Amino acid sequence: MKVAVFGAGYVGLVTGACFADLGHDVVVRDIVEAKVDALRAGVVPIHEPGLDEILARNSERLRFTTDVAEAVDGAEVVYIAVGTPPTYSGDADLSDVWTVVDELPRVDRRIVLAMKSTVPVGTGRAVRHRLDDRGLGNVGYASNPEFTAEGTAVRDFMQPDRIVVGAFADEDGDLVAALHDGIDARIVRTDVASAEMVKLASNAALMTRVSFINEIANVCEATGADVVAVAEAVGLDRRIGPSFLRAGIGYGGSCFPKDSLALKQLAANSGYNFQLLNAVIEVNELQKRRVIGKLERRLGPLRGKRVALLGLAFKPGTDDMREAPSLVLAGRLLSEGAEVTAWDPVADGRAHLHGVVIAETALDALDDADGAVLVTEWPELRELDWATALERMRGNVIVDGRNLLDPAELRALGFVYEGIGRPVV
Ligand SMILES: NC(=O)c1ccc[n+]([C@@H]2O[C@H](COP(=O)([O-])OP(=O)(O)OC[C@H]3O[C@@H](n4cnc5c(N)ncnc54)[C@H](O)[C@@H]3O)[C@@H](O)[C@H]2O)c1
Repeated sequence: MKVAVFGAGYVGLVTGACFADLGHDVVVRDIVEAKVDALRAGVVPIHEPGLDEILARNSERLRFTTDVAEAVDGAEVVYIAVGTPPTYSGDADLSDVWTVVDELPRVDRRIVLAMKSTVPVGTGRAVRHRLDDRGLGNVGYASNPEFTAEGTAVRDFMQPDRIVVGAFADEDGDLVAALHDGIDARIVRTDVASAEMVKLASNAALMTRVSFINEIANVCEATGADVVAVAEAVGLDRRIGPSFLRAGIGYGGSCFPKDSLALKQLAANSGYNFQLLNAVIEVNELQKRRVIGKLERRLGPLRGKRVALLGLAFKPGTDDMREAPSLVLAGRLLSEGAEVTAWDPVADGRAHLHGVVIAETALDALDDADGAVLVTEWPELRELDWATALERMRGNVIVDGRNLLDPAELRALGFVYEGIGRPVV
């Protein structure tokens, strides 16, 4: 089939590349000329494992443009994969979505507009009205939310747990479902509103697990239990399962924080106070800040102390720093008067952090540091030569914000080690 994808970001690029890999002819359209030029030249603007290869492998079936008409020309399905960031009030900002809907050219055949962007429930209905108002009754609409995770997005797209398609007309849902031929996964067909809600509910469920295990970790700290052992045993219960039970310094990224706010506001706008979600969000905010207390307990007042942040991306496998806990930590440390150094293997700290010295290597970041915080669980940090790290530091405090390292090993080297929800020596 011929597919157009609007938005060449983390989702749009993966969607376009994977549909091309399934044999479709794909045109990806973005409004940022530099991005399109780079993609045409074979330069991938984001770090996403496997994306370079799949784009290169399918270059014959994949084109990039800034031109709307060129993208939609001949397309049977037009995907919207533009950003839906939070507004000041926390509601999703749909202005980029509306721009795409409004710039859709008139065509003399049936096409389907498919929504990949994460949008509030009711958006599909509103888009349907807007299309009808424009006299575009021949443009069908389907919600086909995206569940991929950055860092594993290509694999997640090709081997999803499920594909959700909600459409107003069965034929439109059939077309979007058929696009996924070749992917071995159950296709769940729903109405449009339910498909929209599946995405928001899935994210909320994952965030709830994160905040749940973080609260268990905090109680472990107060009572002498070890959350790593607790989570492992809890996760072995088949009714619970092991995923998203890793205690740490909280979730970040371009999806969870904004989608939780959007769901909270969606509920509030409908007259419902989503109390559980409020708590999940608040726990996450507090969790990022607990690291500061841990450092202060070990180092005293942080004014003039040098603290190294190891890892800046919101999680390993991506260069995405949107809503990363590192941003909150750096800001809090700087406002306490600490000197902050930082390192990340792929994220561009210079573009996001002002007043922080960005080092080329993790060891360089640790030079003369009084303390270090492991912020992102990059595998490189597990493999780091921690004996050399200690020699290069001025102090010996490490807060392992992701429980990545072996406490006994680090303590044996001479570190004062603190994890999250683990017994303190
Ligand atoms: N990032 C993820 O892992 C992920 C996962 C699931 C769902 N989502 C959702 O997918 C959507 C996109 O997220 P993202 O992370 O890819 O965003 P992104 O910011 O990386 O990419 C959005 C792209 O859309 C482009 N754009 C803006 N207006 C446009 C227009 N009129 N025409 C064409 N392109 C336009 C932007 O220039 C940008 O390149 C969001 O709603 C997000 O919540 C993201």
